[in-house]
Amino acid sequence: MPAGIEIRAQHGDVLSALIAQARIPLGRACSGQGICRSCEITVLAGYSLLSRRTKRENHWRLESSQRLACQVAVVGTERQDQWIDLWSPAWGERPKGGP
Ligand code: FES
Repeated sequence: MPAGIEIRAQHGDVLSALIAQARIPLGRACSGQGICRSCEITVLAGYSLLSRRTKRENHWRLESSQRLACQVAVVGTERQDQWIDLWSPAWGERPKGGP
C-alpha cells in the first residue's frame, strides 16, 4: 500500500473496493469486469489470504505475484496479526525487498 496507509479488511471484501473506499488511486477502467487490467497490483505479502485466481485473471497470464484487484477477495481474516501488502506503480516507488 502507499506508505503509511493501512486498511482493515473482512472476509469477502474485494480489494479494488477497499482501495477505492480508502481513496487510493488505482485504475478501474472496466468497472471491475476483469477485462482492462488497469487495476493490476503486486501482492508483496499475504497472498494466502486472498481468493484464488479467477478465469479473467488466468486469461491475462499474470506473473505469480500479480493480481487484478477487482477480481480478488479477502478470504482469511481470522487472525488480527495477518497482513496483506500490495503495490501498484500508481502509488510511487516500489518498496525495497519486494518481488
Ligand atoms: S477494473 Fe478492469 S480489470 Fe479490474
